[in-house]
Amino acid sequence: MAGFYQFYPNVVTLIGSRHGDKTNLMPAVWQTGVSKNPMVYVVSISQKRFTHGLIKASGVFSANFVDFKYVKTIARLGSCSGRDIDKIKEFGVELGQHKQLDVPIVKFAYASFECSVQEIIPSGDHDLFVGRIASVHEAGGIKDGSETIDCNAVRPLLYLGKDTYITVDTGSIVTIRR
Ligand SMILES: Cc1cc2nc3c(=O)[nH]c(=O)nc-3n(C[C@H](O)[C@H](O)[C@H](O)COP(=O)(O)O)c2cc1C
Repeated sequence: MAGFYQFYPNVVTLIGSRHGDKTNLMPAVWQTGVSKNPMVYVVSISQKRFTHGLIKASGVFSANFVDFKYVKTIARLGSCSGRDIDKIKEFGVELGQHKQLDVPIVKFAYASFECSVQEIIPSGDHDLFVGRIASVHEAGGIKDGSETIDCNAVRPLLYLGKDTYITVDTGSIVTIRR
């Protein structure tokens, strides 16, 4: 079968998990919002990931949205497992304060969600973790007056597949009122 890359580029998030004395981060590109009221966010995680077991055990996770400038750190976090090393220590990722749920919040993220697992849906070699958003963190100045991200202030990290990343071209922005 041809490579499964037709739906890229997609935003990459850092999924944070914590259970017992283990705190971990992994990049995930198979993710999206699926409900506005209540706010629900879904991420697809392989059963092989250390993250999978941590979230299953704790019932909570974070999703952290990061700027393109952190691409190397993100790639590193996705090239090894928290099963083998403490990635947060190893890559010097600073964590901030969570609000409602005991999940790792990445300080350099421009926005983060705290999610509690509402449902886990099997979907082939990955499981969908359906997360009810309990809290949202946002850095100052990331919005342009509307509710959308100001891509002159932050450059969302997008993934194209095959270890290849890209970001947005602000010259292409258009708003078409309905
Ligand atoms: C850009 C990027 C996107 C990724 N997206 C996903 C994803 O959506 N789901 C998934 O299960 N793994 C994904 N991975 C793979 C995991 O991040 C990777 O296997 C990681 O090392 C797992 O870490 P862990 O074992 O500590 O949980 C992605 C990796 C990269 C680099």
